Amino acid sequence: MKAFVYLGTGRSGLEDRPKPELQRPSDAIVKMVKTTICGTDLHILKGDVRSCTPGRILGHEGIGVVDSVGAGVTTFRPGDRVLVSCISSCGKCEPCRRNMYSHCTTGGWILGNTIDGTQAEYVRTPHADTSLYAIPKQANEDAVVLLSDILPTGFECGVLNGKVAPGSTVAIVGAGPIGLAALLTARLYAPAEIILIDIDANRLDVAKRYGATAVVLNGPDGKAVETVMKRTGNRGVDTAIEAVGVPATFELCERIVAPGGTIANIGVHGTEVALHLERLWDRNITITTRLVDTVSTAMLLKMLQSSYLDPAFLITHRFRLDQMPAAYETFGSAATTRALKVIVEA
Ligand SMILES: NC(=O)c1ccc[n+]([C@@H]2O[C@H](COP(=O)([O-])OP(=O)(O)OC[C@H]3O[C@@H](n4cnc5c(N)ncnc54)[C@H](O)[C@@H]3O)[C@@H](O)[C@H]2O)c1
Ligand SMILES: [Zn+2]
Ligand SMILES: [Zn+2]
Repeated sequence: MKAFVYLGTGRSGLEDRPKPELQRPSDAIVKMVKTTICGTDLHILKGDVRSCTPGRILGHEGIGVVDSVGAGVTTFRPGDRVLVSCISSCGKCEPCRRNMYSHCTTGGWILGNTIDGTQAEYVRTPHADTSLYAIPKQANEDAVVLLSDILPTGFECGVLNGKVAPGSTVAIVGAGPIGLAALLTARLYAPAEIILIDIDANRLDVAKRYGATAVVLNGPDGKAVETVMKRTGNRGVDTAIEAVGVPATFELCERIVAPGGTIANIGVHGTEVALHLERLWDRNITITTRLVDTVSTAMLLKMLQSSYLDPAFLITHRFRLDQMPAAYETFGSAATTRALKVIVEA
């Protein structure tokens, strides 16, 4: 089968690989129908994710059709159309029983990281009963792909951890797919202000169209902090969501969070970030970090089905699996290509 493989920092490519086989009774083999690329895949290519070693098939998102199931799988049968969660969870271990699927002792974020992922014709999905979701009939399957990772991530790591509340003031740093997913799901809580901050004017335009009350270009003049402080009457924001994954944007969140507020980190960080306790120690703030647990996936699927949530606008480009290098090139050069999410058909 065709598969897109990480070959070491800065190197990747399409390879021919054997079709995966069932290894455990709880496994399923899924024939991929659609997959996509995540900002985290770009971090892997940069060498930021040390757990992902050369030779790994990338990808932790997508939908497909169940091809075969192990003897222990009771919920799914060959032919079922399923959403593959980016997080594999056994549902039984101690972290799973605490709804912290991301730290499942035999799962977590393993797909496209420590085991082969979804950017291939087939994928082996461990703990299939608790890690796959039946796709509701008549659902827009392109939009469903966005529920593997970015919608639950923006919602759980950004909105829930950031305690977005009615009437509150929110800033989201990073208007990539994750930041925009945080924007869509923050709106469910009716905050008074949602300010999107990015270096990419096109992405900020998209944010404005989909509910940002203000956008701030984080340009070389370094005025973003000043602009946010002015807009909030010098108070800062109740929730500062970091959706980029570089030191400068975390430090920006430290500067704009209001007393009593929360910095909710989403970004994957590959380098050291300064924590300015000399400024923050007396400001009663909370800092949260989270690897998405995907505990909200079933709820988000229902909201998609009822059209209460419509993230399909995030899809800007389409490719076939054999065009994966071009898909990465397009997704990785968003400033010029205006890409948000790409759909890759297997
Ligand atoms: N915690 C989790 O479970 C989890 C899950 C998925 C993704 N992530 C991470 O979330 C982050 C965002 O993902 P994405 O897919 O949206 O990535 P992306 O690369 O498409 O988007 C990042 C955005 O940040 C902007 N940006 C870059 N530098 C900036 C700066 N100095 N100031 C303001 N904006 C800046 C970019 O223009 C871009 O729009 C990544 O770090 C990704 O790895 C985390
Ligand atoms: Zn991801
Ligand atoms: Zn578990």
